Amino acid sequence: MNDAVSSDAASRPETLRTALLGLLDGLPPRRAAGAVERLIASYRGDTPTDAPILRDRADVVAYAAYRMPATFAAVRSALEAFTDAAPGWVPGSHADLGGGTGAAAWAVAATWDGARPVTVLDWAEPALALGREIAEADPDLRTARWQRARIGTGLTLDPADLVTVSYVLGELTDADRAAVVTAAADAAQAVVIVEPGTPDGYARVAEARDRLIAAGFHIAAPCPHSAACPVVPGTDWCHFSVRVSRSSLHRQVKGGSLPYEDEKFSYVAAARFPVAPAPARIVRHPRIRKGQVLLDLCEPEGLHGRTVTKRHGDQYKPARDAVWGDPWPPR
Ligand SMILES: C[S@@+](CC[C@H](N)C(=O)[O-])C[C@H]1O[C@@H](n2cnc3c(N)ncnc32)[C@H](O)[C@@H]1O
Repeated sequence: MNDAVSSDAASRPETLRTALLGLLDGLPPRRAAGAVERLIASYRGDTPTDAPILRDRADVVAYAAYRMPATFAAVRSALEAFTDAAPGWVPGSHADLGGGTGAAAWAVAATWDGARPVTVLDWAEPALALGREIAEADPDLRTARWQRARIGTGLTLDPADLVTVSYVLGELTDADRAAVVTAAADAAQAVVIVEPGTPDGYARVAEARDRLIAAGFHIAAPCPHSAACPVVPGTDWCHFSVRVSRSSLHRQVKGGSLPYEDEKFSYVAAARFPVAPAPARIVRHPRIRKGQVLLDLCEPEGLHGRTVTKRHGDQYKPARDAVWGDPWPPR
């Protein structure tokens, strides 16, 4: 593993990228591709499972090289939106539930400078071992605790300012999912939950959101309010997208020549303390027409389409520059 030269938040994506590339050194490409294909098949199978999917080093190397850049980017995006709503807040400690190889630990470190106690809980020892190994590349993550634990009913957590749960809820039973969100709410000042940007992923996020609100949390992002979500289940799902560079392993497994993939994700970020959520959020790709931009917005009053034209003066240029997932108007 490379020695880290720097530990500021901005350099972390690059440090992580280099560390992940290093993992594939010495792993024959066919072996890596085989492990990814097995992994994709497991994740397509019936989840939740009663045993870890990440069983050995080949599985976790495949997971880290193939999926971790995308889960890191999705969590990073959710945290960025959270910081917009809670600009002065910096977590003094972080616990990541079902943290696997540590994508969220890296995303938190990439969002807020400085070292903090970090605990990563997972039931898959090979994932924790690899997470620990990758974290050696960053001085602030080297001290993280990688702890083997089953998360679910009966879970109680030590207090942590920030609890993250990323791409995990879908692997849990209904009862375990409820228990994990409740335990996170009981332990934390802020909770950030990220799931795949699918109808099912969104449904799990919406359920967690309701649970956090019932526990007294305020929604910081993506929603502009802490009232009921206006999305009608079965007709649509709230999700966002982040662009991720494809590695050579991606190209090998998936073919094609595109240098990037768009990772779709759903998320909720909430805090016990007062937050300042965006006045509205852009929930689809803006549509640019001659002299006008059509924005689909989630607003405190519900979902609305808005047309911004040159007649809106100052708003027109920001509307042309705005992207799916941005707050509106820009801050
Ligand atoms: C898809 S991976 C996500 C890993 C990481 N959070 C990320 O975003 O890249 C799901 C993780 O949840 C863990 N997991 C699933 N069910 C669990 C349980 N009941 N207890 C502890 N860990 C669990 C798995 O071992 C795996 O590491």
